[in-house]
Amino acid sequence: RAGLAYDRTMSDEPHDTIDALSSENRTFPPSATFKADSLVVDTSLYDEANEDDEAFWARQATELVDWSEPWDTVLDWQLPYAKWFEGATLNVAHNCLDRHVAAGKGGKVAIHWEGEPGDTRKITYQDLLDEVSQFSNVLKGLGVDKGDRVNIYLPMIPEAAVAMLACARIGAAHSVVFGGFSSQSLSDRINDAEAKVLITADGGYRRGEVFPLKPAADEACESTPTIEHMIVVKRGGNDVTMVEGRDHWYHDLMDGASTDCPAEPMEAEHLLFLLYTSGTTGKPKGIMHTTGGYLTQVTYTHKYVFDLQPETDVFWCTADVGWITGHSYIVYGPLSNGCTQVMYEGVPNHPGNDRFWEIVEKYGVTIFYTAPTAIRTFMKWGADEPAKHDLSSLRLLGTVGEPINPEAWMWYHEHIGGERCPIVDTWWQTETGGIMISPLPGATTTKPGSATFPLPGVTAELVDDEAQPVPVGGGYLTLTRPWPGMLRGIWGDPDRYRETYWSRFEGRYFAGDGAKLDDAGYLWLLGRVDDVMNVSGHRISTTEVESALVSHPAVAEAAVVGATDATTGQAVIAYVILRGGADVGEQDLRAHVASEIGAIAKPRKVFITPDLPKTRSGKIMRRLLRDVAEGRLIGDTTTLADASIVDELQAKAAASTDD
Ligand code: WT7
Repeated sequence: RAGLAYDRTMSDEPHDTIDALSSENRTFPPSATFKADSLVVDTSLYDEANEDDEAFWARQATELVDWSEPWDTVLDWQLPYAKWFEGATLNVAHNCLDRHVAAGKGGKVAIHWEGEPGDTRKITYQDLLDEVSQFSNVLKGLGVDKGDRVNIYLPMIPEAAVAMLACARIGAAHSVVFGGFSSQSLSDRINDAEAKVLITADGGYRRGEVFPLKPAADEACESTPTIEHMIVVKRGGNDVTMVEGRDHWYHDLMDGASTDCPAEPMEAEHLLFLLYTSGTTGKPKGIMHTTGGYLTQVTYTHKYVFDLQPETDVFWCTADVGWITGHSYIVYGPLSNGCTQVMYEGVPNHPGNDRFWEIVEKYGVTIFYTAPTAIRTFMKWGADEPAKHDLSSLRLLGTVGEPINPEAWMWYHEHIGGERCPIVDTWWQTETGGIMISPLPGATTTKPGSATFPLPGVTAELVDDEAQPVPVGGGYLTLTRPWPGMLRGIWGDPDRYRETYWSRFEGRYFAGDGAKLDDAGYLWLLGRVDDVMNVSGHRISTTEVESALVSHPAVAEAAVVGATDATTGQAVIAYVILRGGADVGEQDLRAHVASEIGAIAKPRKVFITPDLPKTRSGKIMRRLLRDVAEGRLIGDTTTLADASIVDELQAKAAASTDD
C-alpha cells in the first residue's frame, strides 16, 4: 500500500497516492465528552474571520497579548511586505513571563524539564523570570544591544529557552542553530547574521552519551570575525578549552547578576529572530520573524489548535528548540499562554523504547505534539511499549512536519490516544511562523491523513500551473492573504524573498507544497514540489547536499534525490561521478556530507557511477533517479542523452538492496 507519497512534480500521470487517499473515508467527529469542555465547538471563529480577517486578528491580538502602546493600523500590506500592528509596542518576554507572575502565577510550573540521564528540574514562572532577567543583564554586560544578533547552539536544556527569552527581553535577535548541525553550518549562519555573541554548552546527552558541542563551536569561531564572546553552559561535563577573554562560563556570569531587568517595549515590527532553513539553492535562508504579529499568531494557534485549558493542561511538544516548532510551541506559544509544559533533552529510546510514555505518565501530559516520523518509529517498536504505561492523562494529540499516512494516524489514535483523543494534523512552515492548516479539535471532523482546513484567519487556495484555482483535485498550495506570523523577509536578500515566495503565482504566497482537495473540501498535503527533501520532518535541500558532495576533492558531479522511506518519509540518496583517477568509498562521502552540513543530511546511500541520466540539454533527470532509488521500473527514456546509464544504475540499486 502506497501511503502518502511525495510526488514533487504534480504531473498528471496516474497517481497511486491520490487514489489511495480518495478511498480514505473514515471520519472522526469530536466526541461529546471532548466538546463539553472545548473552547470552540462550532463555526463561529471561521465566520468571524471570513467576515473581516483584519478585525479578527485585531481581536486576537487584543485578547491574547499585552501591549504597551496600541497600534495605529492593524495591517499595512504592500505585497510582498506586510506590517502588522504598526505603531504598537510590546515585549515578548514580558508576555511570556512578567504578566503571568504579576497575575499571581509565579509559583506555577512553567517547565518540567527532564534530562536524558533522568535528572530533572522544575522551573516556575517566577524562576524563569528571574533567570531570564539575570541573563538579560549578562548579555547587556557583554555589550549586546537592541538590534544585535546572538547565536544559540545548545542542547535541549532550559538555558535554551532562557537565552531566547533574554534576547527578546532586550531586543536582540536570536538565531538558533540546531545542535546536530556541523561547525561549518554554524559558522555560515553566524557569518550571515553577523552575530556578536555565541551561546553554547560543553555538551549534552544523547542516547546515553555526551555529545560535545563546544569543540564544534570553537571550530566555527575560527572563521567568524564578528563573534566577540562565547558563553558556555556546563551540561555534559566533558573537557573543553576556554579561550581567555572570549569564552565565559554561563554559571560564572550568572553568579551575582541582578534579577532586575525591566522588559523594554519594542516596536511591533522589531526583529525577534532569524531562523535558517533550506531552500532550493545551496545557501540556507535566514527567515525573519518580528515581534507583535508572530506572538499573536503563536499564542492564538497554541490556544485554539490545542484547545488549551491553561489551569490543568500539561503540554508536551517533542521538537528541538533548533527548529521552528521548538520556537513556536516550546518557547513562545506555551509560555505566552502561561501553561505548564514538559521539555525533554534526549532521544525516545533511552534507556528503553518506552521513554516517551514513561514521561507522559510521570508528568500527566494531557496534550502531546510530535512528528509522523516518530509515530512510524513507535509503530516499528510495537504497541507493547506504550501499553506498559498509563496514558489516560492524554486528551489531545498533534502531528507536524510532514504528511501523516493514514496507517500511522490510526495507530496513534488507537495506541497512544486510546481512541478517545482527537488528532490535530498541523500544516505550517518555518516561514509561516505558526500553524496555518489544522483541525480545531472540538469543532472539526477529522479524516486520517488530512490536515483538514485553514484555521480561522488563514486563507489557502490550490491552483494549477496557470494559477487557476482548483476546487477539487490536485494543485499547488498557495496562501492568498497575509497573516500576522508570516516571515518578513530573508535576511540580507530581499530579491530572493520576492523570487522564492511571491513570483511563481502572482499575488500569492507559494509554499512549495502540493496538495489535494477532496470533494468535501478537505486538504490533503502531498509533500514538496520543489527540490527540497523532507527527512524525518526536517527540510534538506538537494542542492545543498550536492554542493557538499562536490566540495570533496574526489567528486566531479553529484545528483541527490529524496526517495520515499517508510520511517523517515524520505531518505537522501546520492549519485556521484568521481574525478578522473580519484578513488573514494561510499562511507567517506557519507561522512563528508555529515561534516559539511550535519548528520541529518547524511545520505542513506551513495552510488558511485560513471555517468548520470541527463536530457539532451544537459539537465539531470531527477525523476528518473528517484524512480531508480525507489525501485520502480523505468518507462520512457527516449529523451535521455545516454539511456544505457539508467540500466546500469538500476543494476547497482538492485545489488545494493541485496547486501
Ligand atoms: C514543510 C515545512 C512546521 C514545522 C516543521 C517543519 C512540511 C509540515 C506538515 C503537515 C504535510 C507538512 C511541508 C512544509 N509539513 N507540516 N502537517 N502535513 N506536510 O517546518 O522545516 O519549515 O518545513 O514541512 O512540506 O512545506 P519546515
